[in-house]
Amino acid sequence: MIPTTPPVEAPAAPSATIAAAPLTLGSAQLVPEQGSPTLEQPADSSPLPTQSDPNVEDVVEAEEVVEGGYYETDNDSGYSFEDTGSSTTSLADSVKQYRRENGRTYHSFREGVYALPNDEFEQERLDLQHHLFLLSFGEKLFLAPIKKQIHNCLDVGTGTGIWAVDFADEHPEAQVIGIDLSPIQPGFVPPNLKFIVDDAEDEWVISEKFDLIHVRMMVGSFLNWPQFFTRAYNQLHPGAYIELQDVTGLACDDTTFTYDPPSCRFAEWWKLVTEAFEKSGRDMDAAVQHKERMEAAGFVNVTVIDFKWPINTWPRNKKLKTIGMWSKENTLDALEALAMAPLTRVLKWTPEEVQMLLQGARQDIENEGIHAYWNIRAVYGQRPE
Ligand SMILES: C[S@@+](CC[C@H](N)C(=O)[O-])C[C@H]1O[C@@H](n2cnc3c(N)ncnc32)[C@H](O)[C@@H]1O
Repeated sequence: MIPTTPPVEAPAAPSATIAAAPLTLGSAQLVPEQGSPTLEQPADSSPLPTQSDPNVEDVVEAEEVVEGGYYETDNDSGYSFEDTGSSTTSLADSVKQYRRENGRTYHSFREGVYALPNDEFEQERLDLQHHLFLLSFGEKLFLAPIKKQIHNCLDVGTGTGIWAVDFADEHPEAQVIGIDLSPIQPGFVPPNLKFIVDDAEDEWVISEKFDLIHVRMMVGSFLNWPQFFTRAYNQLHPGAYIELQDVTGLACDDTTFTYDPPSCRFAEWWKLVTEAFEKSGRDMDAAVQHKERMEAAGFVNVTVIDFKWPINTWPRNKKLKTIGMWSKENTLDALEALAMAPLTRVLKWTPEEVQMLLQGARQDIENEGIHAYWNIRAVYGQRPE
């Protein structure tokens, strides 16, 4: 998030604005020009290797995948790629050239930074997962006890933007910004919402301060969480909140599932996924440390609330059974999304070996004799008044 040229105001559009060329958020240009030093990976960055990977099929143009429903053209979607010169135009184009690998597509801006696909199948999973959060949170979008009116909200790693859209609808008085590496957000959204293609691990140079920063399901995304918390802290008004909602792994309260040693292929899958992410410097267990890292960054009143998502409909409790029904679909769809790139790129498995593992894991997820559940954790904290 470093400005490299004088800021250019995003055009006022009746719908969302996606910036894939220089664009301002307050005084900041959130997407650097191609060829600028900021397009380089940060010194401490270690994206998953992708360039010479034998599993790469080709690069797919976003426009090409319109037929498959992945993406609309910027003309008909309401996206605005501001044309301020040839280099920025080509950056805007390259953002839309998704990488296709082992039957999935992946983001191209800062290629390799994020290991999950961005195709329609994954987008549907993210939207389903949003529904799971609403079920768990009693239809609330956040749990922080915010009393004051929210004027500015930032959704980091917004994905399909489904949370940001709901939030903008519920808070028409607030200006909402969603940022993500992938331009996979819808075109027609509330007028108080805009989307920006950006890397949240870049330096933040934003004049705007926020009343709420929302960060959901971002474990496995960042290399440097302490740095992220410090930046978020500096970007909040005194008294304002950050809230993170994430997964802290799999658990079981009886003997039908153990993670270490893995009692089944599904447990083995999670162990391998976390190992591959860890090797790439992106910790899948990061949420376990959110509280202490937030306190180290200066946040106060840090509160942790845990939820359970059973992996299928094994519980007797009616609410948990319903959550389990949705969670099962989410887990089945997440199997390949979470494993394919990390296991082939980092652990050097073949795609066929990954598919064999997934086949076994699928059977375990269907098995109601396995009483495993996902631990889901919401953590919120406040910048002191
Ligand atoms: C698991 S998805 C969650 C999406 C959304 N928060 C939700 O809960 O529906 C993680 C998202 O974070 C984005 N992401 C990962 N690393 C990022 C980064 N460094 N900067 C911006 N977005 C990032 C990915 O592109 C992806 O859309």
